[in-house]
Amino acid sequence: MSDTKVTIQKDGEVAVITITNPPVNALSGAVRQGIWGHLQDALADESVKAIVLAGSARAFSGGADITEFGKTPVEPGLNPLIDGIEAADKPVVAAIEGLAFGGGFEIALGCHYRVMGPKGSLGLPEVKIGLIPGAGGTQRLPRLIGATASLAPIVTGDAISADDAVKLGIADKLIEGDMLAGAVAFAKDVADKRPLRRVSELDVPAGDAEAFEKEASRLIARNRKLQAPQACVEAVRASMSQPFAEGMKTEHDIFHSLREGDESKAQRHLFFAERAALKLPGVDKDVKPRKVEKIAVLGAGTMGGGITMSMATGGYDVTIIDLNPDNLKRGLGIIENNYRKTAARGGFTEAEVEDALSRIHGATDFDAVKDADMVIEAVFEKMELKKKIFADLDRLCKPGCVLASNTSSLDIDEIASVTSRPEDVLGMHFFSPANVMRLLENVRGAKTAPDALVTANTVGKQAGKVPVTVGNCNGFVGNRMGAARARQVHALMLEGAMPQQIDRAAKNFGFAMGPLATNDLAGIDVGWLVRKERGEVMPIHDTLAEMGRHGQKTKRGFYIYEEGSRAGVPDPEVEQLIRKIAGEKGYTPREVSDEEIVERLIFALINEGSQILEEGFANRASDIDLIYIYGFGFPVWTGGPMKYADRLGLRTVADKLAQYAEVSGMDELKPKPLLARLAAEQSSFADYDKTR
Ligand code: NAI
Repeated sequence: MSDTKVTIQKDGEVAVITITNPPVNALSGAVRQGIWGHLQDALADESVKAIVLAGSARAFSGGADITEFGKTPVEPGLNPLIDGIEAADKPVVAAIEGLAFGGGFEIALGCHYRVMGPKGSLGLPEVKIGLIPGAGGTQRLPRLIGATASLAPIVTGDAISADDAVKLGIADKLIEGDMLAGAVAFAKDVADKRPLRRVSELDVPAGDAEAFEKEASRLIARNRKLQAPQACVEAVRASMSQPFAEGMKTEHDIFHSLREGDESKAQRHLFFAERAALKLPGVDKDVKPRKVEKIAVLGAGTMGGGITMSMATGGYDVTIIDLNPDNLKRGLGIIENNYRKTAARGGFTEAEVEDALSRIHGATDFDAVKDADMVIEAVFEKMELKKKIFADLDRLCKPGCVLASNTSSLDIDEIASVTSRPEDVLGMHFFSPANVMRLLENVRGAKTAPDALVTANTVGKQAGKVPVTVGNCNGFVGNRMGAARARQVHALMLEGAMPQQIDRAAKNFGFAMGPLATNDLAGIDVGWLVRKERGEVMPIHDTLAEMGRHGQKTKRGFYIYEEGSRAGVPDPEVEQLIRKIAGEKGYTPREVSDEEIVERLIFALINEGSQILEEGFANRASDIDLIYIYGFGFPVWTGGPMKYADRLGLRTVADKLAQYAEVSGMDELKPKPLLARLAAEQSSFADYDKTR
C-alpha cells in the first residue's frame, strides 16, 4: 500500500495526474480517492486549462482491484469517479502507454480524449472471470465505435492493440516517443476546444441489426455453455435501445447478478488459481526462465503434432522430428489441415496460419536437436525407447537445453537417470488434442532444476496453456485421479447401473460427455493395452476390447454407432455382458440412483485428490482444480472438484464417502486421512492451501 500514490504536477496550463500503484495501477480505494481529489484541485485551479491522466509505462491501469470484491466499498466508487471525469468542464486526456484493462479502460472512456503509445493495449477482460464490464464499458464503447464493433472486445475479453484502437476510433492519436510530452502537447492543442465530447451523450451509431446478431452468435458459439458471454451481448444490445442512464442500470443489474452467481465465483477462483500455480515450493520467485527460441518435438504422431501446433502458434520456431518419413509427412499434413480448418471457422486469420506454418520444419534425423533450446519427446510410450532417446539427446543437445518428455505414465526419474544432466529433465504432459486442451502438467523430477521448471511454465504460458507443476507419481495428478473415477464407473456397472444411466447422470451434472461415451471416443483398446502392460484388469472394459469392440472407430464399444453417427445407441448385448460378468463376480444387481452415480464419480476424485495433496504430488488444492477444469472438462461452474468439495462442506463429502464405502464394499472409498482430518476440523481445502 505504501507505494500507492496519485500525484499531480503542472506543465504550463496542463495538470498531469499520475497514478502509481505497482504493479498494474489497480484502482484501489486509495487510487480512486487520489484521482478524485487531484481532479477537483485541477478543476478549481484557474490556471489549469486541460488535464492529462496518466499511469506508468507498463499500465495506465489494469482495472478494479479484485481483492476488494466483497469488502465495504470506499468512496468514490468507480462509476461516480468516471462520471465526475466525464462531467469536467476542462478537457481530460487519458495517456495510455501500457495496458488499460477493465476499469482502467472504462476510466479512459470517461475521458474526453485518449492518446496511446505504440505498445498500449485496451481490454475489457471481465468476461474471463464470469462478469461483464461494470463501469460503463458496455454502454460507452458502443456509443463511441458502434454496437457491432464493440461485441468482440467485450464478449471475448481479448485486447485491442494501439493501432486497432486508432482505426476503430477509440484512440484519438498515436504518440511515438515520450508519452508524457506528447500527451501534454496534445492537451494544449485541445485546451480551448468546445463542446467537450462526452461519450455518454453520444447516440449509438445506427448499425445493421442483422450484422449485430450474426456477430453475436459467432462470438457466443466459442463459449456456448457459459453465462457471461451471453450477458455481455445482452448489455451491449441494451445500449442500442436504452438511454444512457437506463443502459447503465441494465449493466449494473446484470453485473451484480453474475457476480453473486456460482459461475463467476468459480471463474474468479480459477483466475487466482492460475496465478498461484506458477509459485513453486522451494523455487525463489526471482528464478528466471532459460531463453527458449527453438524447440524440437520428437514424434509426429497425435501428440507431437498437437504440441508442435501449440508451440508454433505461441511464436516458437519448431522442428518436428520423426524417423519414419511417412509418419512425418502424415503428421505435417494433419498440422496444416488443422490450421486451415480452424481458420475456416474463424479461429485464426490466413496470415496467422501462414505465419505459424512458416515456423514449423520437419526432419527425419536427430540433427535438428543440436541447436534446440528445448526438446519435447512424444514418441511411443515405451520406457526402453524413451531411455535410448534421452541418452541420444544427452549426447547431442547443447548445454542448458531443457529435455522434456510428454509421457503420460512413465517414471521421469528413470528417464532422467540415463542422462548426465538430470537437472535439465522433466515431464511436460500435454492432453489430447494438444493444440486444443489447455492443461499442461509439468512433472518435477527428483533432480529437476528450478530454472528448468520455470522455463517449462513460461513456455507453456506463451503457448496458451495453463501450466501446473506436479510430482512424479503414477499417472501424475490428472490421470491418477481419473483412474480412481474409472474404478467407480466399473464398479457401478457391476452393481447394476447401465452405461446409458451413468453417462446420462454425468451429463446432467454438467460434463460434456459421459465417461463411457468418452471411452468409446478415445478407444477402449488404449486403456486395455496400458493395463496389460501393468498387469491391471477391468473385466468389463477388457472383455469388450478383446471382442474387438474398441469404440467409435469399430462402430461398437459400450454403444452401437450407426454409419456416419457419433451418437451411440445402447446395446442389449453389452447389458447382458455386464450382467454376466457381475453375476460371475457375485454381485446381485440393484437399483442405483443417479445421485449415487454422480457422487461416487466426483467424490472419488476428491478423495484421491486429497491423498495426492497429502503426499505432496500436487502443491495445492487449487492446482488440482485447474487440472480438472482445463484437462478433463470438469464443469466450470463448480470451480473444480476441490472447490466444489469446499462448497458442499468436507464433512458432507467425507460422510457420504464412508456410506458409499459401506454400500459398495470398496475400501478405497473410505475418506483418505487428509480429507477425514480437514472434515473433522470443519476446515476446507482453501484453508489448507493457505498453509502451503
Ligand atoms: P503416436 O503413436 O500417435 O505417435 C508416436 C510417433 O512417434 C509416431 O509418429 C512414430 O513414428 C514416432 N516415433 C517412434 N519412435 C521414434 C523415434 N525413435 N524417433 C522419432 N520418432 C519416433 O503416439 P501419441 O499418442 O502421440 O503418444 C506419444 C506420447 O505422448 C506417448 O508417450 C504417450 O503416452 C503420450 N501421451 C499421449 C496422449 C494421448 O492421448 N494420445 C496424452 C498425453 C500423453
